[in-house]
Amino acid sequence: MLSPNLKARLSSPLKVGNVEVKSRVLQSPLSGVTDLVFRRLVRRYAPDSMMYTEMVSATELHHVKKLPKIMEVDANERPISIQLFDCRPDFLAEAAQKAVAEGADTIDINMGCPVNKITKKGGGSSLLRQPQIAEAIVREVVNAVDVPVTIKTRIGWSDEEITILDFAKRMQDAGAQMMTIHARTRAQGYNGNARWEWIGRVKEVLSIPVIANGDIFSVESAVQCLQSTGADGVMCSRGTLGYPFLVGEIDYFLKTGEKLPPPTPIQRLECAREHLQALWEYKGDRGILQARKHMTWYAKDFVGAAQLRAELSLIETVQQGVNLIDRTLEQLN
Ligand SMILES: Cc1cc2nc3c(=O)[nH]c(=O)nc-3n(C[C@H](O)[C@H](O)[C@H](O)COP(=O)(O)O)c2cc1C
Repeated sequence: MLSPNLKARLSSPLKVGNVEVKSRVLQSPLSGVTDLVFRRLVRRYAPDSMMYTEMVSATELHHVKKLPKIMEVDANERPISIQLFDCRPDFLAEAAQKAVAEGADTIDINMGCPVNKITKKGGGSSLLRQPQIAEAIVREVVNAVDVPVTIKTRIGWSDEEITILDFAKRMQDAGAQMMTIHARTRAQGYNGNARWEWIGRVKEVLSIPVIANGDIFSVESAVQCLQSTGADGVMCSRGTLGYPFLVGEIDYFLKTGEKLPPPTPIQRLECAREHLQALWEYKGDRGILQARKHMTWYAKDFVGAAQLRAELSLIETVQQGVNLIDRTLEQLN
C-alpha cells in the first residue's frame, strides 16, 4: 500500500527553515484539546512528530504578566510549535518573542480559524481577505524571532473567494517557512469534504513545505492524501480526539510500510483514565470539566460504550471518572 516512490519522497526529514523534523505527520493545534497533558500522550506514540499548542491570543498576552497555561511547554518537549492568533503585527511579534523564550521551535500563525469572535476582530481566517495585513504580520514576526515562522490557513473565505494560490505565494514571499492548508473554506466550517485537490495546487506554486490538513482520520486517508497532493506531510486533527494514537500510527506506517495493531478498547480506556488523572493533576477542577468531553470521545466502539459516555459526561470528580472507567474495564477484561 505504501508505494516505493512515496516512501522515498518522505524518508528525509521535514525541513522547516533550519529546523529538521524526523516525521512527516504533525499533531494539529486544537483549542481546548492540545494542552501539555494531551501532547504528552500523543508524543508517547509519535516521539518525532511536531506538536502545536492551542492558539494563543497575542493581544491577551500583551496585557497579562503571567504566561497563560495554554502556552506552557515541557522543557524536553520537542519539536514544538506555539500557535498565535491576532491581527496586530506588533503584538504578534512581541508574543512570538515570549513564545521563543518559552521554548517554541517554530512560531505558527493562525490564519484559518472560522469562529466569529476571532474573525470579527480581524484574526484567524479573516486574514485571507486582508492579505496585506497578513504579509505585514509575517514580515514583522520573522524580524522579531530567529526561529521559523509558519502559517496555518484555509483555501479561502468561501466558494466565491478561493484565494489560496495567491495568498500562499504572498506568505512565502513575506518569509513564511511552511504552510499548512486546511482544505476547506471558512464558509464550510468543518462541513463537507476537505478539498485536497487545492493542496496539490498550492504545492505546485510554493517552494516551502506544504502540509495537508483536513479529513486525515486513518493511515489509509493519510497515504491517499499524500499521494494525491504531493504534500510534504499531513496534519491530524479531529481524528485524534479520544485517539492520541493516530499520529504515531501514521508515522510508523510511513516509516516501515507496516500497520501497527490498533489499540484494544481496554488500552483506549486505560489511556482515557491516565488522561483524566493527568488533567486533574495539571488543572484541578477545571481539568475535570475539560476531561468530560475527552472521556466521551474515548468511550466508543465496545459494548456498553453509550452508557459509559453518558455517565462520563457528568463527572464532577476525578474519582467518579476513574471508578466508572475501572468498572467498565472489569466488564471488558
Ligand atoms: C475542537 C477544535 C479546536 C480547534 N482549534 C484550532 C486551533 O487552536 N488552531 C488551529 O489552527 N486550528 C484549530 N482547529 C482546526 C484543526 O486544527 C483542523 O484544521 C481542522 O479540524 C481540519 O482537520 P480535520 O478535518 O482533520 O479535523 C480546531 C478544530 C477543532 C475541531
